[in-house]
Amino acid sequence: MLSIKTRSVHPASRFHPLLPPALGLLLVLVHSIAAARELRGPVQAEHGMVVSASPRASEAGVEILRAGGNAFDAAAATGFVLAVTFPQAGNLGGGGFMVARTSDGRNLSLDFRERAPSKAHRDMYLDENGEVIEGLSLRSPLASGVPGSVHGLLSIWERDGSGRITREELLAPAIRLAAEGFPLSQEMAQSFNLNATVFEKDPGASKVFIRADGRPWQEGDLLVQGDLARTLRRISAEGRAGFYRGEVAGLIARQQAISGGLITREDLADYTSVYRDPVVGTFRDYEIVSMGPPSSGGVLLIQILNMLDGRPLAAYARGSMSYVHLLTEVQRRAYADRAQHLGDPDFWKVPVVELTSKQYAKDRAKSIDKDRASPSSEVAAGIKIPQESGETTHYSVVDAERNAVAMTVTLNGLFGSGIMIGGAGFLMNNEMDDFSVKPGVPNLYGVVGGEANAIEAGKRMLSSMTPTVVIQDGRPVMVLGSPGGPTIITTVLQVFLNVGVHGMDIQEAVAAPRHHSQWLPDRIMYEEGAFTKDVIDKLRAMGHVITDATATIGAANCIYIGEQNVYGAPDYRRQSSAAGY
Ligand code: DON
Repeated sequence: MLSIKTRSVHPASRFHPLLPPALGLLLVLVHSIAAARELRGPVQAEHGMVVSASPRASEAGVEILRAGGNAFDAAAATGFVLAVTFPQAGNLGGGGFMVARTSDGRNLSLDFRERAPSKAHRDMYLDENGEVIEGLSLRSPLASGVPGSVHGLLSIWERDGSGRITREELLAPAIRLAAEGFPLSQEMAQSFNLNATVFEKDPGASKVFIRADGRPWQEGDLLVQGDLARTLRRISAEGRAGFYRGEVAGLIARQQAISGGLITREDLADYTSVYRDPVVGTFRDYEIVSMGPPSSGGVLLIQILNMLDGRPLAAYARGSMSYVHLLTEVQRRAYADRAQHLGDPDFWKVPVVELTSKQYAKDRAKSIDKDRASPSSEVAAGIKIPQESGETTHYSVVDAERNAVAMTVTLNGLFGSGIMIGGAGFLMNNEMDDFSVKPGVPNLYGVVGGEANAIEAGKRMLSSMTPTVVIQDGRPVMVLGSPGGPTIITTVLQVFLNVGVHGMDIQEAVAAPRHHSQWLPDRIMYEEGAFTKDVIDKLRAMGHVITDATATIGAANCIYIGEQNVYGAPDYRRQSSAAGY
């Protein structure tokens, strides 16, 4: 009998004790990370692999593969389990994106991003003086978009699944784990304890995430989620109608109406996930398949790679001054374009073809000076990119036929809005904060922009999520993605370059220290060990602003697909687990 091989990694780090959890920030201290990097190689398996933030979710995915399901079935089942075992980001009340390469060579992408409710309007987070009302788009009933995950996960199973897994079988692991409970890992217990002040504000969340006896959670405590099990059973029995219509839709709409939210029964009934053309680019002999708008991830990844293509990257060491300078300069240009041009393609004409063309990249990169940082204020006019923060989760799935599925799902902030739908057992997202809450108004520097991502009824908010499949010689070789708001794009970029240019194996590529820069704020952030003091001094002398290493960047749960075997690479930065068979 084939056995499942699992390896889980636990961060040798902890949540920042000084940060208000209400901000939903998941900053992880860098101390002792070096120890955690002493990893063995990737987890190797012959037939299939799931790498996710939760061992139970990865194992449930592999069980589906072993039962005859394909990677799409496993991706859907894993997603439902993450909603139970990783409620920080796994969800029924949020959304996400899938990018996939099928074994018969088709590239697919599914947008199950949340949508603004039909009563949403552009100034909904501003007071009478036009100032942003603090917290309204993050921790309030108004923070939520119409959830897309249930629609999306069922589409993935229904459209490209093997047909051998029934809906009941698909939902069974999630229902069992919610109804019977599962023992918390130390990280989960700690995360619940640190966010107790968020849960206390909401009766539904307190009931589930604060212990009835008042003592803090400890490793091994059983988390039972009876209401969530009931909701999952409804989805199992009725499909989408079990969530978007009937009792669950009624519970969402009623709670929203009572508490001042905008989501109605009609908004829920009208929600659909959308198959869109993925964005496709090339870098050397690799083909990059990634998520197009309403995510900015794929467009930026390809634009950045186009600006790097043809340069002698292998001649630069990864942490060298020239390499970091070049990456920073191309990223600055790409992220400036993000603020100006990227938004929901159903509402805004996004120039995808132009932005991802080789010629555009060539022209755009002409202004790069190899000896001097270009101040972001000179690169383009526009508004500051909203700082996305909190929690998202990426997982990667590959099956024996070599269908390759990259999934990134999110509630946006850690535990989303922190508001649970009473009686239904799941947290709502705070994705509305990904819109420009105050576009068209000059920012600190007097520049204007952000129309592409202004709030409109029914519109999807701009994302940075970058689920990606990399193809070489006509077959998928890498499944990539990460959480981390705007750092998602640069995380995926660096994992790819680490393998494709620097010859690392997938586990080394995931573990290697990362750095990030965007457009505004005009600064480079880095993980401990990403570069030496000498390189930092040289970059500063060129005009770069560098902030000290204080946090980890991303959590890339990736897979490399060899000719015979698949290799899963869990990311040590956050709780993560690879399971294969
Ligand atoms: O869609 C986005 O880009 C954000 N809502 C993602 C937030 C995120 O990755 C937070 N994770 N650490």
